[in-house]
Amino acid sequence: MRSGQRDLVEKLLPEIEIDLENEKAFSLAALFADDGRQVWLEIGFGGGEHLAWQASRNPDIGLIGCEPYLTGVVKLLTKIRADGLENVRLFRDDARLLVDCLPNKSLHRAFILFPDPWPKLRHHKRRIVSDSVLDRLAGALVDGAQLRIATDDPGYLEWILWHMGRRKEFDWQARSPADWRNRPEDWPPTRYEEKAISKGCKCAFLTYTRKPR
Ligand SMILES: C[S@@+](CC[C@H](N)C(=O)[O-])C[C@H]1O[C@@H](n2cnc3c(N)ncnc32)[C@H](O)[C@@H]1O
Repeated sequence: MRSGQRDLVEKLLPEIEIDLENEKAFSLAALFADDGRQVWLEIGFGGGEHLAWQASRNPDIGLIGCEPYLTGVVKLLTKIRADGLENVRLFRDDARLLVDCLPNKSLHRAFILFPDPWPKLRHHKRRIVSDSVLDRLAGALVDGAQLRIATDDPGYLEWILWHMGRRKEFDWQARSPADWRNRPEDWPPTRYEEKAISKGCKCAFLTYTRKPR
């Protein structure tokens, strides 16, 4: 690791890293000084392009990013410092640990962009889009909140559509392929998406809404 990167990990990261040790006291509001802001969550942010973009365009929103991959975390830390972003907090572990601690009705948006597809049947249980994660997100998202999911993997797309389609808490308002084949303007491309497109893959951009309770 270069010295600039070490400095980011040793100095900036501890200031914005989420510690679940004392999970009973875990509160999303407290992460952002209880200033009443809305909180969005991104699971598996990779190099953090999308998270940093959203944080810089939505300075009044608190952004939480989960990513266990240190190289990706360092990339995001570099952007946070370069752009002076003050509204980002990081969880450097399996997102499921954090999702399990999310209080009810605490989240205003969630993103799961190009999750690892785990194509082999015996690995499907590792997929992040799962009944247990969706149970927790359905509880944590406020009424009307968006859950955005993207994938370029046809098998995972089918899986997501099936898992989401049978949930009573979420609504999918797409009426034609244009509604999910095209990325909305307030949804920037990620590195993974760019790689997928360069290989000729087609991407799906799914926006679900948490129905009123
Ligand atoms: C295919 S990459 C996509 C990265 C990024 N979202 C993008 O679109 O460029 C999937 C990412 O999810 C992360 N990931 C996998 N399992 C995870 C988990 N359980 N919790 C948090 N992140 C996870 C991986 O480390 C990886 O960076």
